[in-house]
Amino acid sequence: MRTQVGIIGAGPAGLLLSHLLHLRGIESVVLETRTRDQIESTIRAGVLEQGTMDLLSETGVGERMKAEGALHHGFELAFEGKRHRIDLSDLTGHAITVYAQHEVIKDLVAARAAAGAELRFGVSDTSIHGIDTDTPSIRYRHEGEQHELQCDFVIGCDGSQGVSRAAIPQALRRDFERVYPFGWFGILCEGPPSSDELIYARHERGFALISTRSHNVQRMYFQCDPKDSVDNWSDDRIWAELHARADSHDGQKIIDGKIFQKNIVGMRSFVSTTMQHGRLFLAGDAAHIVPPTGAKGMNLAVADVKVLSQALDAFYKESRADLLDRYSETALKRIWRAEHFSYWMTSMLHRIDGASPFEQQLQIAELEYVTSSRTAATVLAENYVGIAGAQMQSRS
Ligand code: DHB
Repeated sequence: MRTQVGIIGAGPAGLLLSHLLHLRGIESVVLETRTRDQIESTIRAGVLEQGTMDLLSETGVGERMKAEGALHHGFELAFEGKRHRIDLSDLTGHAITVYAQHEVIKDLVAARAAAGAELRFGVSDTSIHGIDTDTPSIRYRHEGEQHELQCDFVIGCDGSQGVSRAAIPQALRRDFERVYPFGWFGILCEGPPSSDELIYARHERGFALISTRSHNVQRMYFQCDPKDSVDNWSDDRIWAELHARADSHDGQKIIDGKIFQKNIVGMRSFVSTTMQHGRLFLAGDAAHIVPPTGAKGMNLAVADVKVLSQALDAFYKESRADLLDRYSETALKRIWRAEHFSYWMTSMLHRIDGASPFEQQLQIAELEYVTSSRTAATVLAENYVGIAGAQMQSRS
């Protein structure tokens, strides 16, 4: 089989890239190891930056997001028993939408399927060949048969454990990494929202985040030991911990509900450069990971493939390779901004074991600053809605 762009991975990066290329008249094939059911039910974060919302809407896959997602104009920072609102719209003129990543995946799969796209689920033994030539290919097994997909470009959207990053020679790559000594315990529960907006709470016992999925399903997280097991946490123990961390001193309480999903995720920051070699380009988690605080992961994947789709379009329509040549450099500006932001939010809000009382006071001083100075609040807000990165990208 032959196509123009061979895409490995049907996460947000791979599916959206295939969709954006289709709108520009460029053919692609998407290969995915998991099943359609698996990708449509994997639970991840749920905050869409302004730029992500706009791109999904402008390209015709934002209908359900607009109908079922919740537009939020601010969020709360809670510390020392009080809640403080960050007014995103007032500070930046922009907002965010709370809409789960797997819902975006469903919308993209539906749009690609309706356009007759070639999406292959359940592939195995994927390998990449000839990226130093103009005729690269992807070999894989599907339904018991060996296949070869010939293409002009291979795009690795296969996450941090995929095969794509390793196809760039080690000698040309540099990895940057920080592993955090804590994780997030996440729950989904039935019940009404505890608050109109998300609450990010710093507490001596550790961080907590109160988010939402709909009027009757809520998403909450609390900082935990990444090696802990969900089996150690009864529902009562979970609620006691969330109340201790997120209830305010003046009586604002989170609302308990029936917990129907529990999971623990580790946290790390990771960037692999370069994101391109010959005819291979990486996008999303294949090249970079952020800790979940601030929910930048999917938004970065979306920003990567937006840049890549423009660069591929310039190649096919105008025979220009300069945008492709600069892809990694262009994408990395926004990626490093988001890496810093996610690290900053994480450091400001989490309990750091072994931190001295002095360091704990510094955390509180920083929170006091971002909730009392309009200038400092604007720094937080423009990073949160994602325009800090967008401006940097359009300047380059
Ligand atoms: C969610 C996750 C995040 O990491 C975050 O910062 C905000 C919300 C969520 O899953 O709803």
